[in-house]
Amino acid sequence: MDHNKYIILAIDGAAGSGKSTTSKLLCEKFNYIHVDTGLHYRSLCCFFKNNYISADGVNDYLSFNSISLSSAIEGSNLFFLINGIRFSLNDLRNEEINKEVSYYARLPRLRSLLLSYQRNLPTVGKSKGFSGIVVDGRDIGSVVFPNADLKFFLHADLHIRQKRRIVDGERDSISGRDKLDRNRKVAPLSCPVGATSIDTGSLSVEEVIDLISNEILSIK
Ligand code: CDP
Repeated sequence: MDHNKYIILAIDGAAGSGKSTTSKLLCEKFNYIHVDTGLHYRSLCCFFKNNYISADGVNDYLSFNSISLSSAIEGSNLFFLINGIRFSLNDLRNEEINKEVSYYARLPRLRSLLLSYQRNLPTVGKSKGFSGIVVDGRDIGSVVFPNADLKFFLHADLHIRQKRRIVDGERDSISGRDKLDRNRKVAPLSCPVGATSIDTGSLSVEEVIDLISNEILSIK
């Protein structure tokens, strides 16, 4: 056993399945860095919308313009910048972005742009002294890190997930977004091969953290 092994942990799941809460608590507990890849897609959506580029216009835009992707670390979060700009959570988590993000996220060109950026993030976390990285999203265990040390797929009944969004104070038509994310051609939302599936609707947050912690401890 290698107690100093740098762990890559993939957490996938649909909207409101509990990915962020789970990832944040695990990062605090194990000195891991957290990457919320949903914010990558939200930032790209916001960037293009600010430049009046619809999802249909993205390929043309990228044929004539390059964009630079970079990172900033704050506490145990690794944030995403486009052309040096970091969007605020208010810019990224609102009804308008919720409605449109999946139309941008289904574009193969944007996904491949992010793929090479995302695959380099464990190196960034390691160089900053973190003991591992938790990456959450829709395609992390399936496409971005198919060889992750541990993979989890969180799910819960639609009504439970909808209720969570209302408690968060967010207007979000998650069933429409789920449909687009599950049915796109490239990297659709699905339970990755080898992932442990967890029903967060039937467990408390503490129980989910205990379950994942036990798996982490078992490979350390
Ligand atoms: O927080 P929530 O689960 O509602 O969504 P999010 O994780 O912020 O992701 C927003 C959107 O980004 C998703 O609905 C997907 O369309 C897209 N996404 C993706 O395609 N692949 C990822 N790895 C992460 C997010």
